[in-house]
Amino acid sequence: MQQKTLITGGAGFIGSHLAERLRSRGEEVVIIDDLSTGNETNIAHLLGNDCSLIKGRVSEVLTAQPELLDGVRHIYHLAASVGVQLVKDNPAATIQNNVHETGAVLEAAHHVNAVVLIASSSEVYGKSADIPLREDGDLIYGPPTGPRWSYALSKAFDEHLALSYHKQAQGSGGKSSGGAVVARLFNTIGPRQVGHYGMVVPRFVAAALSGKPLEVYGDGQQTRAFCDVRDVVGALVGLMENEHCHGEVFNVGSEEEVTIDELADRVIALSGSSSQKQHIAFDDAYEPGFEDPFRRRVPDTSKLRETIGFEREFGLNETLKELIA
Ligand SMILES: NC(=O)c1ccc[n+]([C@@H]2O[C@H](COP(=O)([O-])OP(=O)(O)OC[C@H]3O[C@@H](n4cnc5c(N)ncnc54)[C@H](O)[C@@H]3O)[C@@H](O)[C@H]2O)c1
Repeated sequence: MQQKTLITGGAGFIGSHLAERLRSRGEEVVIIDDLSTGNETNIAHLLGNDCSLIKGRVSEVLTAQPELLDGVRHIYHLAASVGVQLVKDNPAATIQNNVHETGAVLEAAHHVNAVVLIASSSEVYGKSADIPLREDGDLIYGPPTGPRWSYALSKAFDEHLALSYHKQAQGSGGKSSGGAVVARLFNTIGPRQVGHYGMVVPRFVAAALSGKPLEVYGDGQQTRAFCDVRDVVGALVGLMENEHCHGEVFNVGSEEEVTIDELADRVIALSGSSSQKQHIAFDDAYEPGFEDPFRRRVPDTSKLRETIGFEREFGLNETLKELIA
């Protein structure tokens, strides 16, 4: 029988790649998206062929059309307020969106015994300097006067909520009783990611291709590890489909660490651009007192590798070359 799967935020960057992957496996895909940061063009090629888009806020759609969940076994919950700039500009809306919508999804899923995969974030690690970051490590935050923490805390709250619902589901009836799994996504890159919410790779690529300066925030020595969205989507499906992963938290990302300076150099070299790097203080890029909590942000992905056999197929240069092309 054809499997029916719901993706919230499926018109967004990662969600649209996930929808493609699930459709290629023959699943029926239902997408709920309010198109706040996503775009219908991301999934236009999929729509109408066992793939549908319901436009609206997740909580409102699920309340108005509960029958959407009939026959759904898996829910990938990706809808969220995303991007440093967007979060900084809308801290209250970020909390409302990330916490309230996740609660609505988990509650609805609980009633139909569906499994929910929560797209959490490496930001939940906060200021932890325990590199590489491991799932069982402490989460360390600054004071609530720093607007940046609203995103990290809302995602951490989502994780607690998901794991609590999972426990409740397991308590209420064995194997077919749904549950939840948490994927802590690290920096993900690929086609359809947009730069205007603060994402560094699309910003750099666009600047290099138009001969403009690549604006590096801070001293550029902070590191990140960027993972191709195709590898990320493979991990998400693997986590959903392996029952042993449910009730657990997994880092999902690349261990290939680069400084942001080096990332800019690579984009310039790979695109043959005449652009230069331009360093800008965080205070000027965002606002006075803005805190970049991570000097290094690299996941330990051993749990993911050991549990679902995760291996990356795409190296950073390969993805950058494709994006530039
Ligand atoms: N891209 C990354 O590097 C990254 C890293 C860590 C975590 N994540 C997580 O992965 C998920 C997907 O991120 P993305 O990069 O694809 O971002 P995105 O902005 O492209 O996707 C989010 C989608 O959710 C939709 N949306 C937001 N709030 C909604 C709501 N209340 N109701 C319905 N739709 C709503 C948006 O319109 C958008 O299509 C998010 O949960 C994000 O926190 C992404």
